[in-house]
Amino acid sequence: MSELSAPPTTRRGFLGALTVLLGGVITALAAVPVLGSLFSPLRSGPSTSATDAPIPVGNVSEFPVGTPRRVELIRSVTDAWSRSEATTIGAAWVTRNADGTFTAFSTVCPHLGCGVNLDKQRNLFACPCHTSAFTLDGKYKAGPAPRGMDPLEVEVRGKQVLVHYKRYKQGLPDREAV
Ligand code: FES
Repeated sequence: MSELSAPPTTRRGFLGALTVLLGGVITALAAVPVLGSLFSPLRSGPSTSATDAPIPVGNVSEFPVGTPRRVELIRSVTDAWSRSEATTIGAAWVTRNADGTFTAFSTVCPHLGCGVNLDKQRNLFACPCHTSAFTLDGKYKAGPAPRGMDPLEVEVRGKQVLVHYKRYKQGLPDREAV
């Protein structure tokens, strides 16, 4: 009697075990791409290519000769799991020189980091926080700033002006990249 009732129980148990096993295999197969996508940013590390790329700031003709123009430095920022489009990462004062070359300075004051403005009346750059002043070629003129404005590399490709953005530590007499 017990031998007659044993096979159905065994078959049921076998089917149950098979179902659990198949469920586990399917779950594992489904998890592989999900886990891969979750951990791939860690394998590749943070994206630095976007950080180093020069940022387009406008057409050559948009820059009047001899008058600094403030431009926003906008780019997409990528970290391990997210990518945000069109983020303003800084700003620069860009000047088109009479000889056709360009110069650019970070708007960040080298004293404590306030935004440096163009004072057209005094023909200089001026920081509103502690009255530091700089000549239009970025040299230190007055106030507590320990150095001149921080220069940024400018590139012209065809008609496009591009700025290489860089941040420097504040409060130091010598320029030190962040
Ligand atoms: S932050 Fe510019 S003078 Fe202090």
